[in-house]
Amino acid sequence: MSRQRYWIAAGICLSMLLVWLAFFWEPDIGTPTGHPGPGTLRPAGQPMGGDFTLDSPDGKLALQDYRGKVVLLYFGYTFCPDVCPTSLSALGQAFTALTPEELAQVQGVFVSVDPERDTQEVLSVYAPFFHPRIVGATGTPARVAEVARRYGVSYMKQKPVDDRPYTVDHSSFTYLIDREGRLAALLPHGAPVADIVLQIRRLLGDKGKPS
Ligand code: NI
Repeated sequence: MSRQRYWIAAGICLSMLLVWLAFFWEPDIGTPTGHPGPGTLRPAGQPMGGDFTLDSPDGKLALQDYRGKVVLLYFGYTFCPDVCPTSLSALGQAFTALTPEELAQVQGVFVSVDPERDTQEVLSVYAPFFHPRIVGATGTPARVAEVARRYGVSYMKQKPVDDRPYTVDHSSFTYLIDREGRLAALLPHGAPVADIVLQIRRLLGDKGKPS
């Protein structure tokens, strides 16, 4: 094969590859339709955790303001048809199972990854519905994305089907943060209430007495 023919052949191959990529390649990021079953959307990388500041119905919400408390952090959105209500119900039931002394040292934070629809007004009703100890928070899309990235949370807005409101696929772990603000454990979606209570008590330590 002459040098010229070689380059023509290489060019054709490259063109075909580009055409294939343009029309057929779909990156494997979540299921394309509806709300995923729990766990179908994998966490985006290793969760590092760390402090963050978002907006809540009560004003600025900074994770560092909860030092000394055990924080349970969940990412989702209020229009979620099933996964978020299930997770938040379990969280609420776990909080209800705690003694008043324990509960005083625990805080639930629900971060909306759908700030477009989840206004502070919506969050102020939605989060405490599951337990008064759960506060809603969100921020600009860029800020929410940054917090989600640090916790290894993945989420993706889906194309609306017909005239129905769009859904947002999202990973569905509950993040346990210890009294020092460190990410201590992840609870999978569907974790039994008793397990959540156990994890909270483990982090409270000292039988729930303040350290
Ligand atoms: Ni959800």
